Amino acid sequence: MKLLILVALFGLSLAQHNPHIRYGRTTIVQLFEWRWADIAAECERFLGPNGFGGVQISPPSEHIVLNSPWRPWWQRYQPISYNLCSRSGSENELRNMITRCNNVGVNIYVDAVINHMCGAGGGEGTHSSCGSWFNAGKRDFPSVPYSAWDFNDHKCRTGSGDIENYGDAYQVRDCRLVSLLDLALEKDYVRGKVAEYMNKLVDMGVAGFRVDACKHMWPGDLAVVYGRLRNLSTKWFPAGSRPFIYQEVIDLGGEPISSREYVHLGRVTEFKYGAKLGTVFRRWHGEKLCYTRNWGEGWGFMADRDALVFIDNHDNQRGHGAGGASIISFWDSRLHKMAVGYMLAHPYGVARVMSSYRWDRHFVNGKDQNDWVGPPSHADGSTKSVPINPDQTCGDGWVCEHRWRQIKNMVIFRNVVNGQPHSNWWDNQSNQVAFGRGNRGFIVFNNDDWDLDVTLNTGMPGGTYCDVISGQKEGNRCTGKQIHVGGDGRAHFRISNRDEDPFVAIHAESKL
Ligand SMILES: *[C@@H]1O[C@H](CO)[C@@H](O)[C@H](O)[C@H]1NC(C)=O
Ligand SMILES: *[C@@H]1O[C@H](CO)[C@@H](O)[C@H](O)[C@H]1NC(C)=O
Repeated sequence: MKLLILVALFGLSLAQHNPHIRYGRTTIVQLFEWRWADIAAECERFLGPNGFGGVQISPPSEHIVLNSPWRPWWQRYQPISYNLCSRSGSENELRNMITRCNNVGVNIYVDAVINHMCGAGGGEGTHSSCGSWFNAGKRDFPSVPYSAWDFNDHKCRTGSGDIENYGDAYQVRDCRLVSLLDLALEKDYVRGKVAEYMNKLVDMGVAGFRVDACKHMWPGDLAVVYGRLRNLSTKWFPAGSRPFIYQEVIDLGGEPISSREYVHLGRVTEFKYGAKLGTVFRRWHGEKLCYTRNWGEGWGFMADRDALVFIDNHDNQRGHGAGGASIISFWDSRLHKMAVGYMLAHPYGVARVMSSYRWDRHFVNGKDQNDWVGPPSHADGSTKSVPINPDQTCGDGWVCEHRWRQIKNMVIFRNVVNGQPHSNWWDNQSNQVAFGRGNRGFIVFNNDDWDLDVTLNTGMPGGTYCDVISGQKEGNRCTGKQIHVGGDGRAHFRISNRDEDPFVAIHAESKL
């Protein structure tokens, strides 16, 4: 009996590693701070047609509204209740978006903030996104409802009540993360409220959750909450599909809490991935691209089946979270395209690409004073919608990296080569490397300060292929470089280090 239960639990949690992406698609895009109405439109006009598999949305739960600083992005990470009205839109708009995205085969993954509520100094009143009253000082959130009994204050043993030492796992999980009121997830009542919130979203049709701040919650508590989640809606997903769970655990090594403690519950964000690949592409600390021949588990990352990978996220692109200065975001666009291209070409992990908004960076002693700035907004604080320019880029401060030709085409590349092995590696013992994915795709990078001019075995069938980085196949023509693969699978590549994008990628569907 015990064994049966163990097997059942193990089976359930492995099922939570599956993103349930449909139609052979592979990639998730984080549409950070986008409004629901804009995401719905983006699914229909761009993401579905271009083979994106899913969207990670900003937290949909009711959040605090802050004036100082003015409407920062992090107010979304300070829940006031589980009402589904936020800066991104109302419950109806959320439901409409989930339905419309599902109808074009694009899954929705919810950023779930369940470790805490708002900051201890959040005050009293109705300064919340749906206008619900709360009193942070009294730990009173009647719209859930939560009261003082539902928080961990009595358990935490630090003087300040906040986490003071990341070397102490008890503090990290029982005290307040940057003074955010820490929920007592050991209580059945709190677990029930959290599961009810997540189940409401499951019933609306979402495919899973990015769970925020998991390092700050006990794995045993999370196991109970996840175990209470219902299966995905059979309107869009096969019967018996478990919600996809990917947990934010920032683990760069050197702390007592490691991502290993969470991988049996679902996938985990592999923060080493973007930090290391950033160092490699920046060529810092003597790193070279040729050293990535055994990229993935060979670099000490978690097992492939457990990893959710990304080059940057909303935290570390502005110096929060982990990874530091090596993280490559849209601010370094040439390197960003290469690093994202590398990630999407490589088989390791479930991949997520970032889609950002711009803000005015202002560095003082290396720290960005404007790292708090919220999304493009109107004078009344409401978020601007995302206008699409005639050339398909986005306006009004929205960066839309996912629409950049090079990134969009690499999302398609990943779909085309899905399931194929990493193959035909070549390097020049420096920063020129190439690898294929079986006989379905091949990519070549030149991150050295001199030209690449070499003939390589691509493993691809003979023919003329269109490079999807410098251009793309449109009908029967190619708007970029053409690559001629001989009957023996060999092809000549020339990539100047001064090219706008010093890499080339071809795949089975870019054959002319
Ligand atoms: C949910 O799916 C699992 C298989 O993943 C199955 O064992 C379980 O019975 C399902 N639960 C419900 C309520 O359908
Ligand atoms: C790197 O590649 C170029 C040609 O692509 C070659 O000339 C050079 O010798 C290679 N090796 C090193 C260590 O740079």
